[in-house]
Amino acid sequence: MNMKKYIFLASILAGLITGCSPEIHTIWLDEMDLSQMETGWGSVKINQSVGGHPLTINGVKYERGLGTHAIYKYMVDLDHHGRRFTAKVGVDAESAKQASVEFFLLGDQKILWQSGIMKVTDSAKVIDQDIRGIDKLALYISDGGDGINYDHADWIDAKFEYVREAPEPVAPYVSEPDILTPPVSDAPRINGPAVTGATPGRPFLFRVPVTGKKPLVIVVNELPDGLEFNSETHVISGIAPDKGVYPIEIIAENDSGRDAKTLTLKTGEGLALTPPLGWNSWNCWGLSVDQEKVEAAADAMVKSGLADHGWTHINIDDGWEAPERTASGEIHPNEKFPDMKSVAGYCHNYGLKLGIYSSPGPKTCGGYLASYKHELQDAQTWAKWGIDYLKYDWCSYGGIAPDHSLPELKKPYELMRRCLDQVNRDIVYSLCQYGMGAVYEWGAGVGGNLWRTTGDINDSWNSMAGIGFGQAKASPYAGPGHWNDPDMLVVGQVGWGPSLHASKLTPDEQYTHISLWSLLAAPLLIGCDMTQLDDFTLNLLTNDEVLAVDQDPKGEQAVPVRQEPGVEIWARTLNDGSKAVGLFYTGESSPVKAFVWGKETPGKKMTVSWEELGINGKQTVRDLWRQKDLGEYDRSFSTHVPYHGVVLIKIAPVSE
Ligand code: GAL
Repeated sequence: MNMKKYIFLASILAGLITGCSPEIHTIWLDEMDLSQMETGWGSVKINQSVGGHPLTINGVKYERGLGTHAIYKYMVDLDHHGRRFTAKVGVDAESAKQASVEFFLLGDQKILWQSGIMKVTDSAKVIDQDIRGIDKLALYISDGGDGINYDHADWIDAKFEYVREAPEPVAPYVSEPDILTPPVSDAPRINGPAVTGATPGRPFLFRVPVTGKKPLVIVVNELPDGLEFNSETHVISGIAPDKGVYPIEIIAENDSGRDAKTLTLKTGEGLALTPPLGWNSWNCWGLSVDQEKVEAAADAMVKSGLADHGWTHINIDDGWEAPERTASGEIHPNEKFPDMKSVAGYCHNYGLKLGIYSSPGPKTCGGYLASYKHELQDAQTWAKWGIDYLKYDWCSYGGIAPDHSLPELKKPYELMRRCLDQVNRDIVYSLCQYGMGAVYEWGAGVGGNLWRTTGDINDSWNSMAGIGFGQAKASPYAGPGHWNDPDMLVVGQVGWGPSLHASKLTPDEQYTHISLWSLLAAPLLIGCDMTQLDDFTLNLLTNDEVLAVDQDPKGEQAVPVRQEPGVEIWARTLNDGSKAVGLFYTGESSPVKAFVWGKETPGKKMTVSWEELGINGKQTVRDLWRQKDLGEYDRSFSTHVPYHGVVLIKIAPVSE
């Protein structure tokens, strides 16, 4: 008999002998440690809705309770000391009209009570549940099965009655931060894209990304006229040649070996022929970004080795703009950026590229000055500074084009496209308007190199997985030079303001994030403080076989092969005809399975068949994160996938 059971029986026996029943105590849900509760968005609030309003269910206001957001999860160890759990539950009035949730009370892997689907128009339902004899009790709110994410749900007057020992919170399951990427080998390896684009006659810059033991000798052959290679900095620069396709041979050598690769330069076929790889200031610094932080990010990009794996862009988001234009109407940076031209020069010296941010409206989303009525002048100013990338964010343009008709949605983006075409500089054009009007259908048509397909991401599973697994509709529209952008990465130290915290995604969720974004051929823009890259984060971002999926020159975005509760299998065909496949276990396939009840490491056995991938015959399967061949398989491949995690594989026909 285990110790817990022994104490439990002994206490019952003691009660029987003494003839007195133990005293019943009460602890309120709002007195428990809120940090152990998982909530779909924001943070759990005491005596307020998750949006910060009085708790209200179907017109009735309540004084006491917790405001949460589905999916909500909380487990306590009652250790058989529980007696009753009582509460009222319902959808908070501040939720969207279509919100629906279901409340569950689970005890030792069984459903004790469930509310049925509840809508914002339902009155609170009462739970009065006997919890005697229960070891682990879990409170769960589902999204009602509709996948809609505006579900604000309240626990009113929720309390546990218990004897002797108060319920103990059980910390949510967090996977181990296992580093899967093998260490970088001593032998040279030329990384990064196999193809890059430029406009004839405009300045060209490309840092050749090579890993391997230093000193490395890099030779570049067949450079077109007008370009030169600096063997110290590994940067190709000059003026892009006439329209054409130029195969450039790159050879890297050191004591440990040699690597060769052809980089194809295509001129006159647009920019961003593979998805941009880089960093953006928003998810860490928010509006507190400044010149020092941007230059520190550029330093770190090179010193951490990320640049040797192909990471190139350093993008300044909102918060750089001065409140007024100069007398001649020029936009200029505020005091946080003493010299924007020198920031560009700083990045270019490394072979990195500098990005900037503006809005077609009078003000940016952060309330800073934007480009309305100064579009050409701003494009010219950015070109003069040496800017290589523009994120153009709708924001206050809503006030100018309030009806959101398709022509209105397109207009400001077409206008800026015309302006960018008039300056003598290649500027990657990133549209940001959160997916309005199915932008993926026309983003390329208005000249965008990429366009955001969603609202802002945050470092929660619901946000990341909700966005990532919701990209199927946009898939057909991605391709070289025009990409769907499911928003920036939320790994490492993030925070959207001066203070930062470690990403709240578990290690397995972070593997899901990078694998999924790579399958989606998404722009990868690191959103963390680059000066605080821990080993786990760095390894997550430097797996060349995973990055090669993202950067594959065919540019095909993955589509779902199977989407079932708890299971997502996504696949894309790569340039060499092989398939990149992600098997994801998204967890919550039932309320009971949403929790870890014992000491087991949660996961799921998953199988993908050749039939569903549209392939046949003997195939080699390679684990891309571990960079390891797993063997040959005839019809299907089965594997164990961790909870909220992924197994990312490449499947190629066995060569005869
Ligand atoms: C949002 C945008 C974010 C960030 C922010 C700056 O609209 O989606 O990515 O750029 O504005 O204010």
